[in-house]
Amino acid sequence: MGYGEVTAGGVEMVLRVFRELGSGNRAFFPLWSVKDALKLKSCLLTPSSRFLDIGSGLGKLVLHVALASGCRAAGVEILSSRVRLACAFRDLLLAQRKVPGWIAEATSFIAENAAAQRGPLLVDGAHATHVYMFSAVFSDHDLERLAARLNETRFKVLVCALKPKQERAFSQLDSVFKAAPVEVNMAGSGQRFRMCVFIKTSSL
Ligand SMILES: C[S@@+](CC[C@H](N)C(=O)[O-])C[C@H]1O[C@@H](n2cnc3c(N)ncnc32)[C@H](O)[C@@H]1O
Repeated sequence: MGYGEVTAGGVEMVLRVFRELGSGNRAFFPLWSVKDALKLKSCLLTPSSRFLDIGSGLGKLVLHVALASGCRAAGVEILSSRVRLACAFRDLLLAQRKVPGWIAEATSFIAENAAAQRGPLLVDGAHATHVYMFSAVFSDHDLERLAARLNETRFKVLVCALKPKQERAFSQLDSVFKAAPVEVNMAGSGQRFRMCVFIKTSSL
């Protein structure tokens, strides 16, 4: 199976989405009303948040989100070989003191087909509050199952790098507000991201 990983610009973009939600910046999310924007303060990524990357690969985003916010961050990945590599990479960074020691406790990687399991998406036994998925790798069927699991989760923010036709799978999400998609150009690489941001209003 081929592997694509979020770029440094993509990591920054995901973090920026979480930060801008907290600030209610309407230049970033032009569809929000002022009243809506005020509610978004509770969406800020804080040390008490729980971040989950669905399809976490080698764990780059999980590590960056934990480091940037101090929150617990987990990845679920279908290929156990990638989970082993993600753990080995994190442990090497710890051994070389390139990341602080608390990262060992704050990050975890689970080998699991996220689309085959049932129940809420959890991070260390608690509901994930901030969820990311690079949805392009999932089939329509998988996305429907993941949407069903997300409905059981008290997530606040879901960020997906979506193909436009995949947005349909998320129409079944309960009580979500969809922010305007954020188009992202990666300087130098020519890549174009389309981040869709869903807010679970019942979790605010
Ligand atoms: C494009 S990579 C993204 C890696 C990482 N999220 C990033 O952005 O750098 C997508 C990953 O999703 C994994 N994946 C695909 N289907 C999955 C499923 N049903 N459950 C869990 N992981 C899955 C793939 O094995 C792959 O490692």
